[in-house]
Amino acid sequence: MNIAIDGPGGSGKSVLAKNLARGIGLTYVDTGALYRTVGLAVMRRGIEKTDTAGIISSLSEIRVEMKHEGGAQKVLLSGEDVTDKIRTPEVSMYASAVSAVPEVRAFLKELQLDMVRVGGVVMDGRDIGTVIMPDADVKIFLFANPKDRAERRYEELAAKGMNVTLDEVLSDMNERDNNDATRAEAPAVPAADAVMLDNSGFLEVDTYAAAVRIINEKTGESFDERL
Ligand code: DC
Repeated sequence: MNIAIDGPGGSGKSVLAKNLARGIGLTYVDTGALYRTVGLAVMRRGIEKTDTAGIISSLSEIRVEMKHEGGAQKVLLSGEDVTDKIRTPEVSMYASAVSAVPEVRAFLKELQLDMVRVGGVVMDGRDIGTVIMPDADVKIFLFANPKDRAERRYEELAAKGMNVTLDEVLSDMNERDNNDATRAEAPAVPAADAVMLDNSGFLEVDTYAAAVRIINEKTGESFDERL
Protein backbone atom coordinates (compact mmCIF):
# COMPACT_ATOMS: atom_id res chain seq x y z
CA MET A 1 0.00 0.00 0.00
CA ASN A 2 1.22 3.50 -0.84
CA ILE A 3 -0.16 6.62 0.84
CA ALA A 4 0.37 10.20 -0.36
CA ILE A 5 0.09 13.11 2.07
CA ASP A 6 0.31 16.61 0.67
CA GLY A 7 -0.42 20.01 2.16
CA PRO A 8 1.07 23.32 3.25
CA GLY A 9 3.74 23.89 5.91
CA GLY A 10 2.70 23.34 9.51
CA SER A 11 -0.33 21.25 8.59
CA GLY A 12 1.18 18.30 10.47
CA LYS A 13 2.04 16.16 7.43
CA SER A 14 5.26 14.79 8.83
CA VAL A 15 3.81 13.96 12.25
CA LEU A 16 0.85 12.20 10.62
CA ALA A 17 3.05 10.38 8.11
CA LYS A 18 5.43 9.17 10.84
CA ASN A 19 2.50 7.96 12.95
CA LEU A 20 0.93 6.17 9.98
CA ALA A 21 4.27 4.56 9.12
CA ARG A 22 4.49 3.14 12.63
CA GLY A 23 0.79 2.27 12.97
CA ILE A 24 0.32 0.61 9.61
CA GLY A 25 3.84 -0.66 8.99
CA LEU A 26 5.00 1.51 6.08
CA THR A 27 8.22 3.37 5.31
CA TYR A 28 7.98 7.10 5.93
CA VAL A 29 9.48 9.18 3.11
CA ASP A 30 9.90 12.91 3.80
CA THR A 31 10.34 14.49 0.36
CA GLY A 32 10.61 18.06 1.72
CA ALA A 33 13.95 16.98 3.22
CA LEU A 34 15.30 16.47 -0.31
CA TYR A 35 14.41 20.02 -1.40
CA ARG A 36 15.84 21.30 1.89
CA THR A 37 19.11 19.47 1.18
CA VAL A 38 19.42 21.14 -2.23
CA GLY A 39 18.44 24.45 -0.57
CA LEU A 40 21.22 24.03 2.00
CA ALA A 41 23.77 23.28 -0.73
CA VAL A 42 22.76 26.40 -2.66
CA MET A 43 22.78 28.55 0.49
CA ARG A 44 26.25 27.32 1.46
CA ARG A 45 27.55 28.23 -1.98
CA GLY A 46 26.34 31.79 -1.47
CA ILE A 47 24.00 31.59 -4.45
CA GLU A 48 21.01 33.96 -4.36
CA LYS A 49 17.53 32.42 -4.15
CA THR A 50 16.62 34.18 -7.38
CA ASP A 51 19.73 33.00 -9.30
CA THR A 52 18.12 30.17 -11.26
CA ALA A 53 21.20 29.55 -13.44
CA GLY A 54 23.40 29.34 -10.33
CA ILE A 55 20.98 26.90 -8.69
CA ILE A 56 20.92 24.70 -11.79
CA SER A 57 24.70 24.64 -12.19
CA SER A 58 25.20 23.66 -8.54
CA LEU A 59 23.24 20.43 -9.18
CA SER A 60 26.13 18.89 -11.11
CA GLU A 61 28.39 19.38 -8.07
CA ILE A 62 26.22 17.72 -5.43
CA ARG A 63 24.88 14.31 -4.53
CA VAL A 64 21.65 13.87 -2.54
CA GLU A 65 20.83 10.56 -0.87
CA MET A 66 18.31 9.36 1.67
CA LYS A 67 18.50 6.44 4.06
CA HIS A 68 15.77 4.80 6.08
CA GLU A 69 16.77 3.16 9.34
CA GLY A 70 14.52 2.13 12.22
CA GLY A 71 11.63 4.32 11.05
CA ALA A 72 13.80 7.43 10.71
CA GLN A 73 14.98 9.07 7.51
CA LYS A 74 18.42 10.56 7.09
CA VAL A 75 19.47 12.81 4.22
CA LEU A 76 23.02 13.07 2.96
CA LEU A 77 24.54 15.92 1.00
CA SER A 78 27.55 14.62 -0.92
CA GLY A 79 28.11 12.08 1.86
CA GLU A 80 27.57 14.49 4.80
CA ASP A 81 24.64 13.75 7.12
CA VAL A 82 22.64 17.02 7.05
CA THR A 83 19.41 15.65 8.58
CA ASP A 84 19.40 18.21 11.41
CA LYS A 85 21.06 21.09 9.55
CA ILE A 86 18.17 21.44 7.08
CA ARG A 87 15.59 22.41 9.74
CA THR A 88 16.32 26.14 10.04
CA PRO A 89 13.99 28.95 8.83
CA GLU A 90 16.71 30.11 6.41
CA VAL A 91 16.97 26.70 4.78
CA SER A 92 13.15 26.55 4.60
CA MET A 93 13.11 29.67 2.42
CA TYR A 94 15.92 28.30 0.22
CA ALA A 95 14.07 24.97 -0.11
CA SER A 96 10.95 26.75 -1.31
CA ALA A 97 12.98 28.82 -3.82
CA VAL A 98 14.89 25.87 -5.30
CA SER A 99 11.74 23.74 -5.44
CA ALA A 100 10.25 26.09 -8.05
CA VAL A 101 13.09 25.29 -10.47
CA PRO A 102 12.04 22.45 -12.84
CA GLU A 103 15.64 21.14 -13.09
CA VAL A 104 15.72 20.71 -9.30
CA ARG A 105 12.44 18.79 -9.35
CA ALA A 106 13.76 16.54 -12.15
CA PHE A 107 17.04 16.05 -10.22
CA LEU A 108 15.12 14.74 -7.17
CA LYS A 109 12.43 12.78 -8.99
CA GLU A 110 14.26 9.46 -9.58
CA LEU A 111 15.23 9.23 -5.93
CA GLN A 112 11.54 9.49 -4.99
CA LEU A 113 10.42 7.08 -7.72
CA ASP A 114 12.97 4.50 -6.46
CA MET A 115 11.10 4.50 -3.14
CA VAL A 116 7.72 4.22 -4.87
CA ARG A 117 8.98 1.20 -6.83
CA VAL A 118 10.01 -0.54 -3.62
CA GLY A 119 6.51 0.31 -2.32
CA GLY A 120 4.92 0.24 1.12
CA VAL A 121 5.50 3.94 1.61
CA VAL A 122 3.73 6.86 3.22
CA MET A 123 5.24 9.84 1.49
CA ASP A 124 4.68 13.49 2.37
CA GLY A 125 5.31 16.59 0.28
CA ARG A 126 3.53 18.96 -2.09
CA ASP A 127 3.18 17.03 -5.38
CA ILE A 128 3.04 13.44 -4.18
CA GLY A 129 -0.57 12.79 -5.16
CA THR A 130 -0.30 14.78 -8.38
CA VAL A 131 3.16 13.92 -9.79
CA ILE A 132 5.17 11.38 -7.78
CA MET A 133 2.44 8.83 -6.92
CA PRO A 134 -0.57 9.54 -9.12
CA ASP A 135 -1.64 5.91 -8.46
CA ALA A 136 -1.34 6.02 -4.66
CA ASP A 137 -3.96 3.90 -2.88
CA VAL A 138 -4.90 6.81 -0.64
CA LYS A 139 -4.26 10.54 -1.10
CA ILE A 140 -4.80 12.95 1.73
CA PHE A 141 -4.46 16.73 1.43
CA LEU A 142 -3.90 17.97 4.97
CA PHE A 143 -4.45 21.60 5.87
CA ALA A 144 -5.38 23.88 8.75
CA ASN A 145 -5.94 27.59 9.28
CA PRO A 146 -2.76 29.73 9.07
CA LYS A 147 -2.79 30.62 12.77
CA ASP A 148 -2.79 26.98 13.89
CA ARG A 149 -0.10 26.09 11.37
CA ALA A 150 2.16 28.98 12.38
CA GLU A 151 1.77 28.09 16.07
CA ARG A 152 2.73 24.46 15.41
CA ARG A 153 5.78 25.46 13.39
CA TYR A 154 6.74 28.04 16.04
CA GLU A 155 6.55 25.45 18.81
CA GLU A 156 8.67 23.05 16.74
CA LEU A 157 11.38 25.68 16.20
CA ALA A 158 11.25 26.98 19.79
CA ALA A 159 11.63 23.43 21.11
CA LYS A 160 14.86 23.20 19.10
CA GLY A 161 16.05 26.40 20.78
CA MET A 162 15.71 28.58 17.68
CA ASN A 163 15.28 32.27 18.26
CA VAL A 164 12.20 33.21 16.20
CA THR A 165 8.93 35.03 16.87
CA LEU A 166 5.46 33.81 15.98
CA ASP A 167 5.07 36.77 13.61
CA GLU A 168 8.25 35.83 11.72
CA VAL A 169 7.10 32.24 11.42
CA LEU A 170 3.67 33.34 10.15
CA SER A 171 5.12 35.70 7.57
CA ASP A 172 7.73 33.16 6.33
CA MET A 173 5.02 30.53 6.15
CA ASN A 174 2.68 32.73 4.10
CA GLU A 175 5.47 33.63 1.69
CA ARG A 176 6.53 30.00 1.28
CA ASP A 177 2.96 28.71 0.84
CA ASN A 178 2.33 31.34 -1.80
CA ASN A 179 5.58 30.42 -3.66
CA ASP A 180 4.79 26.71 -3.48
CA ALA A 181 1.14 26.98 -4.55
CA THR A 182 1.64 29.42 -7.43
CA ARG A 183 4.80 28.07 -9.12
CA ALA A 184 4.40 26.86 -12.70
CA GLU A 185 5.90 23.38 -12.18
CA ALA A 186 4.15 20.91 -9.86
CA PRO A 187 2.34 23.53 -7.76
CA ALA A 188 1.29 22.49 -4.26
CA VAL A 189 -2.36 21.83 -5.04
CA PRO A 190 -4.59 18.89 -4.10
CA ALA A 191 -4.92 16.00 -6.57
CA ALA A 192 -8.43 15.71 -8.01
CA ASP A 193 -8.90 12.43 -6.12
CA ALA A 194 -7.35 13.55 -2.82
CA VAL A 195 -9.44 13.56 0.35
CA MET A 196 -9.30 17.02 1.96
CA LEU A 197 -8.61 16.86 5.70
CA ASP A 198 -8.85 20.09 7.71
CA ASN A 199 -7.16 19.48 11.06
CA SER A 200 -7.56 23.00 12.52
CA GLY A 201 -7.82 22.64 16.29
CA PHE A 202 -7.02 18.92 16.15
CA LEU A 203 -4.60 17.14 18.44
CA GLU A 204 -2.14 14.65 16.94
CA VAL A 205 -4.44 11.77 17.94
CA ASP A 206 -7.45 13.39 16.21
CA THR A 207 -5.55 13.83 12.93
CA TYR A 208 -4.38 10.22 13.12
CA ALA A 209 -7.90 8.91 13.75
CA ALA A 210 -9.34 10.97 10.89
CA ALA A 211 -6.62 9.79 8.50
CA VAL A 212 -7.01 6.11 9.44
CA ARG A 213 -10.77 6.43 8.90
CA ILE A 214 -10.07 7.73 5.38
CA ILE A 215 -7.56 4.93 4.72
CA ASN A 216 -9.97 2.25 5.96
CA GLU A 217 -12.78 3.64 3.83
CA LYS A 218 -10.62 3.80 0.71
CA THR A 219 -8.93 0.41 1.06
CA GLY A 220 -11.45 -1.76 2.92
CA GLU A 221 -8.85 -2.40 5.65
CA SER A 222 -9.69 -2.05 9.34
CA PHE A 223 -6.66 -0.42 10.92
CA ASP A 224 -7.05 0.77 14.52
CA GLU A 225 -7.93 4.48 14.62
CA ARG A 226 -6.27 4.89 18.00
CA LEU A 227 -2.72 6.13 18.00
O1 DC B 1 7.68 19.96 3.70
P1 DC B 1 8.86 20.94 3.88
O2 DC B 1 8.49 22.19 4.60
O3 DC B 1 10.03 20.24 4.49
O4 DC B 1 9.28 21.35 2.37
C1 DC B 1 10.28 22.30 2.10
C2 DC B 1 10.01 22.97 0.77
O5 DC B 1 10.20 22.04 -0.28
C3 DC B 1 8.60 23.53 0.60
O6 DC B 1 8.56 24.94 0.77
C4 DC B 1 8.20 23.16 -0.81
C5 DC B 1 9.20 22.16 -1.27
N1 DC B 1 8.63 20.84 -1.55
C6 DC B 1 8.16 20.60 -2.82
O7 DC B 1 8.16 21.51 -3.65
N2 DC B 1 7.70 19.37 -3.16
C7 DC B 1 7.67 18.38 -2.26
N3 DC B 1 7.22 17.18 -2.62
C8 DC B 1 8.12 18.61 -0.94
C9 DC B 1 8.58 19.86 -0.61
